[in-house]
Amino acid sequence: MAFKNLDFEINDHIGVMRLNRPRKLNALNQQLVQELVKALGKLDADDSVRCAVLSGSETVFCAGADIEEMNGKTFVEMYAQDHFTDIAEAFLKFRKPIIAAVAGAALGGGCELAMMCDIIIAAEESFFGQPEINLGVIAGIGGTQRLTRAVGKAKSMEMHLTGRRMTAEEAESSGLVSRVVPLRKLNEEAMSTASKIASLPQLAVMAAKETVNRAEETSLREGLLMERRLFHAMFATEDQSEGMKAFAEKRQAHFRGR
Ligand code: COA
Repeated sequence: MAFKNLDFEINDHIGVMRLNRPRKLNALNQQLVQELVKALGKLDADDSVRCAVLSGSETVFCAGADIEEMNGKTFVEMYAQDHFTDIAEAFLKFRKPIIAAVAGAALGGGCELAMMCDIIIAAEESFFGQPEINLGVIAGIGGTQRLTRAVGKAKSMEMHLTGRRMTAEEAESSGLVSRVVPLRKLNEEAMSTASKIASLPQLAVMAAKETVNRAEETSLREGLLMERRLFHAMFATEDQSEGMKAFAEKRQAHFRGR
């Protein structure tokens, strides 16, 4: 499958996608977005493919959404076209693991692209950021949600509100990336991780991905509601009754697991 802005091949059960729009630092224009969506669809449908790797060049992973293309757009156009929903959905639907191999800048949509992957391996000089605030917008492909889940509210808020970048080192210590490696080893490390995954039982791999993602998908509100409902449900147990009665009677409780 030949694309204009994306190098794409399937190698030994691994789908390899390399962003290749160097003159615009791999910025995500609609053409590149559509190519990524098609490539993901192809990899998902191909039973021989067990894992994927997404990378940019050695100097830039992706400089984000294409600002030139968005410049001049109105709310009506962005909303009516449902800008970026297709790529966001394509990643959500993709059931096989994807490894992002990040070198250089992963900014805005580039950072979000990496975060839509399952594992991020970063080169030593790479950096991450959500600088959309400088353009009078906010992240639009999951940055506010995924970065917050990855690094916590304090750092995420600072990055989204000020546009501050995070070095690879900070990204690793904050939990955004799984590993930092020398640039010369980036491709090798990403491919050997993908090969390892490809060698493991495929259904269990898919189930593990689905389940780990589930841990991130429960909202605080849902989590709190579940906690409170289970708190209420404890009042259906004999041990609750015994525990509270024993407290009131200033004696040791005798729990029976019922
Ligand atoms: N959209 C469209 N074009 C982009 C782009 C983007 N997100 N990021 C970079 N480019 C283009 C530049 O306009 C320039 O094109 P030109 O040579 O035709 O003028 C080319 O890519 C090189 O970029 P340049 O800024 O000259 O490179 P740099 O090495 O000095 O800086 C960055 C690299 C990544 C720090 C800088 O390009 C940048 O900040 N980009 C925008 C990042 C961003 O805000 N992303 C969120 C978008 S919502």
